[in-house]
Amino acid sequence: MMALQLLLRLTFLGLSITSPLVHAEGFQGPEAVWPSLFNLPQKVQRIQIPNNGSAPLLVDVEVFVSNVFNVDILRYTVSSMLLLKLSWLDTRLAWNNSAQPQHAVTLPWDSLWTPRLTILEALWVDWRDQSPQARVDQDGHVKLNLALTTETNCDFELLHFPRDQSNCSLSFYALSNTVMELEFQAHAVNEIVSVKREYVVYDLKTQVPPQQVVPCFKVTLSLKNTALKSIIALLVPAEALLLADVCGGLLPLWTIERIAYKVTLLLSYLVFHSSLVDALPSSSSCNPLLIYFFTILLLLFFLSTVETVLLAGLLAKGSLGAKSSPSPALRGEHREHGNSGPHPEEPPRGVKGSQRSWPETADRIFFVVYVSGVLCCQFIFAGIWMWAACKSDPAPGEAAPHGRRPRP
Ligand SMILES: *[C@@H]1O[C@H](CO)[C@@H](O)[C@H](O)[C@H]1NC(C)=O
Ligand SMILES: *[C@@H]1O[C@H](CO)[C@@H](O)[C@H](O)[C@H]1NC(C)=O
Ligand SMILES: *[C@@H]1O[C@H](CO)[C@@H](O)[C@H](O)[C@H]1NC(C)=O
Repeated sequence: MMALQLLLRLTFLGLSITSPLVHAEGFQGPEAVWPSLFNLPQKVQRIQIPNNGSAPLLVDVEVFVSNVFNVDILRYTVSSMLLLKLSWLDTRLAWNNSAQPQHAVTLPWDSLWTPRLTILEALWVDWRDQSPQARVDQDGHVKLNLALTTETNCDFELLHFPRDQSNCSLSFYALSNTVMELEFQAHAVNEIVSVKREYVVYDLKTQVPPQQVVPCFKVTLSLKNTALKSIIALLVPAEALLLADVCGGLLPLWTIERIAYKVTLLLSYLVFHSSLVDALPSSSSCNPLLIYFFTILLLLFFLSTVETVLLAGLLAKGSLGAKSSPSPALRGEHREHGNSGPHPEEPPRGVKGSQRSWPETADRIFFVVYVSGVLCCQFIFAGIWMWAACKSDPAPGEAAPHGRRPRP
């Protein structure tokens, strides 16, 4: 980018009459500085990085984070608005106060050296002002403000979704300079006024990573999910369905409504489950615990429905068998007793008496086991939730990130 600009500048220098230029010796006002091939070396000199002897030039950066307006966990992106206030000292731009009484001048940014920043994680960056103006003080202090909106990639830690916390970083690199020439000194200010968000920024840090070839600084946003919507939309319906399913076990086994009830619950849970799976991202490691929990609930629903269908089937078969097996004498007696055999809604033989048929006993036992299983499952899940911690696998590029000296 900078090289291209330099090239353009060199090409059109003879014709360019647009920008007022500052001479290295002193500021002389726009009328005195028509560029000519004679001051080409000075001009090129001026858009070189200011020299600070053997030490790198120190560029002070203040990062104001004014908004984090979108956090997309499905695409792993964060959109934010930042203002960067850069300042450094370029003594070539200083002028003699007694000759020129101005305290400061404003210059187009491409008429002097400015750091070119690239955000490593950005999918796109929108620099709000395409040609910002730099303010130069009489002693050569340059101040440049850059406002930008950007969407950056972030590896969210979603193990504890919807109570997840993640650190997202924005790494600013000055790719056209080396660490011998330039060094950043960064601090961040949280200026977010809007709190009506699902994800809130609870901490903000800056850091200058050591041992880089390219000068860089890193802004880290710590994001926290406020979770209320997900709890209302996910946990409450799932628990309500589970409770309804447990209560369904209290319906008598021979009624046809029990199967209808269980199957309806299973179907509604399946709909819920598929929308849940759509709402959560998948990842190579540290998938949300909630996905496992809801899948176990799905298995529980399935188990209880299958149990109902099987035992109701066995019970119906048992009562049919009981009807057909007795001796002709008994059968005749039965025919006298009730004309068309047992009504489907009526309890079959054996229930009226003191002793139950074995499918019903099995159903009682299953009910107790199921309730305790459901309770255990909840407690085990709560325990895992409290203690589980997940360390993502290191990324393949982490051993030698961008800008770091390759290992020998
Ligand atoms: C030059 O380097 C020194 C030592 O790192 C630093 O204190 C000083 O601020 C630098 N000057 C400029 C103009 O960056
Ligand atoms: C500024 O200019 C005045 C006269 O124009 C001169 O006396 C003075 O030495 C200059 N100061 C510097 C720092 O060059
Ligand atoms: C985020 O960074 C802070 C320190 O800056 C650290 O204490 C915390 O554990 C980090 N959180 C995650 C989820 O990595």
